[in-house]
Amino acid sequence: MVALQAAPFDSAAEGKGAPGELAAVAKHAKLITVSAAKGGATKTATVRNIAVIAAHAGLRVAVIDLDLQRTLTKWHQRRPKAAPAIECRPMPLRGGAKAIRAVVQSGRFDLVVVDTPPGLEDHAADIRALAKFSDLVLVPSQPQTADIESNVEWARVLRRDGVHYAFLLARTFRNRTAFASSKQSLLQAGPLCPVDVREAASVDRSHQQGLGNFEIRGDVVGQDFLGVWSYAARELALVGEED
Ligand SMILES: Nc1ncnc2c1ncn2[C@@H]1O[C@H](COP(=O)(O)OP(=O)(O)OP(=O)(O)O)[C@@H](O)[C@H]1O
Ligand SMILES: [Mg+2]
Repeated sequence: MVALQAAPFDSAAEGKGAPGELAAVAKHAKLITVSAAKGGATKTATVRNIAVIAAHAGLRVAVIDLDLQRTLTKWHQRRPKAAPAIECRPMPLRGGAKAIRAVVQSGRFDLVVVDTPPGLEDHAADIRALAKFSDLVLVPSQPQTADIESNVEWARVLRRDGVHYAFLLARTFRNRTAFASSKQSLLQAGPLCPVDVREAASVDRSHQQGLGNFEIRGDVVGQDFLGVWSYAARELALVGEED
């Protein structure tokens, strides 16, 4: 595994070569879909932060925005020109599977990360089709009981469909009892990313600035997302075991 140090987006990080070990050679990109039962689950924040770290790791990355509110696309439009390149493709969810497949199979990318719209109930069939085609579905969840309950139900559907998925706890306060109990509930229900993403105002700031939190010097949430990326990369077999 390449030891990715915090690489804030500043002159020190600019122009640094991509860690070669991570530069995947697969013809088909790996596909991560981020999907959750509740709106505001931090799907878009997860997509852009994973994409940024993967781009810093030297992967050719595309993000796909299936949400008509185009939050991810707006973030992408604000991305500084000199930041590691990420391609952004807004597209409709309905019938999107074919277009997504074409991006994955284009040979142009190592990683494709898909952001899905809120209102899972309205698009369940399309998102289930996409999930089945994905290499990993990340299910972000806030620690509140209602979020956990809904996401556990969603995971049940994914599991029945044979989807490779994992929960991700987000907007956490690690010193609160709700943190431990939500972790426990998710662990009982299915695989859980071992690194949670803490609550931090810098997540909104990074959205405004077109950045990933990893690109903001000293941002602890950037380190949380780095942990999430390390887990996802291993789940996707983008990295091997170390001796
Ligand atoms: N770790 C965090 N700490 C604090 N705020 C966060 C965190 N993650 C996300 N947010 C904020 O929470 C709000 C919802 O996040 P985000 O837009 O990523 O969720 P979403 O699941 O994509 O929402 P939607 O269902 O509307 O698409 C945003 O204002 C975002 O900046
Ligand atoms: Mg969103």
